[in-house]
Amino acid sequence: MADILSIADAPERAIDAACSVLARGDLLGLPTETVYGLAADATNGEAVAHIYAAKGRPRFNPLICHMSDRGMAEMHVRFEPLAEKLADAFWPGPLTLVLPRLKQSPVASLVTAGLDTLAVRVPRGIAGDIIRRFGRPIAAPSANRSGRISPTRAEHVAHDLGEAVSLVLDAGPCAVGLESTIVKVESGRAILLRPGGLSRDEIEAVTGHCLLRHETPGALEAPGMMASHYAPDAPVRLNVTSVAPSEVLIDFADQPIVGKEQARAVIELSASGRLTEAAAKLFDAMQRADRLGGSAIVFAPIPTTGLGEAINDRLQRAAAPRGVEPDAGTQFG
Ligand code: TXA
Ligand code: MG
Repeated sequence: MADILSIADAPERAIDAACSVLARGDLLGLPTETVYGLAADATNGEAVAHIYAAKGRPRFNPLICHMSDRGMAEMHVRFEPLAEKLADAFWPGPLTLVLPRLKQSPVASLVTAGLDTLAVRVPRGIAGDIIRRFGRPIAAPSANRSGRISPTRAEHVAHDLGEAVSLVLDAGPCAVGLESTIVKVESGRAILLRPGGLSRDEIEAVTGHCLLRHETPGALEAPGMMASHYAPDAPVRLNVTSVAPSEVLIDFADQPIVGKEQARAVIELSASGRLTEAAAKLFDAMQRADRLGGSAIVFAPIPTTGLGEAINDRLQRAAAPRGVEPDAGTQFG
């Protein structure tokens, strides 16, 4: 198993250790406020290739580049005024911007998978300190094997990826617990490519416009939007009103679900009905539910407002039919 190093005791030592792993071209389990990332030096093509191999991910699914701040991002992508406004409002934080890539950017072409845009984000917390010290952008998808549940704790990373990752930094459970919201900005318009840890309302409050939703199934502009994704081993049912004794119930706000007392287990996402708490606990709850070995994991209805949009998006992917294996070209994660 990978080494796990807690950042609590000696953060400076953890930053140094992380930078040497990255400089060697090895993979690092990187805590961010959204989910743990599987990180490599974005300018080292071979290191980036290791990410795809470790995840079992097809080459042409592009990766997010993590920057220390907007200044570093400006060396790689072109900001139009709307993008500047969004970056200033939400960085560091759970917002990824897809922007035109600059020709002189040394980011490895494997990161963008041949696209002329680059997805950039500035994470909160120790990840930002590491990138600042390292001095170069870090490519990092979520640190899970392709199609599996995203990790919100260091143990999830070590468990899912094993030897493929040299070191996992442990910064405790992720505060947000859902991947970043991905917004493409072009010609004065903001288009939502993936709902995530920053809600639509917060973005619209800054842009003053309705966020457009990219809705072309199959079109590769919204990669990572594969139907079956974030999948636990057990089958998943959503918006249930009853639960069977063999099933594990994931509840929200303690709803009156028929059969709850006899369920194999009940995991509560937020007894008080707070969507931020539910988001932070969601992936951990799915991992725990999966280990309980029930005949299915069933979810109580969760509102679709605020962060509920991203939560329900992930749940729909977890519940999508898996009978037809996606071919390599459509498998994301
Ligand atoms: O919160 C997050 O975003 C986490 C943490 C580790 O930062 N990262 C993450 O990365 O979720 P990943 O690789 O699992 O998801 C990245 C998504 C994919 O759906 C990918 O296809 C999309 O971003 N993406 C990357 N570059 C893109 C581009 N140029 N245009 C459109 N989508 C892009
Ligand atoms: Mg992912």
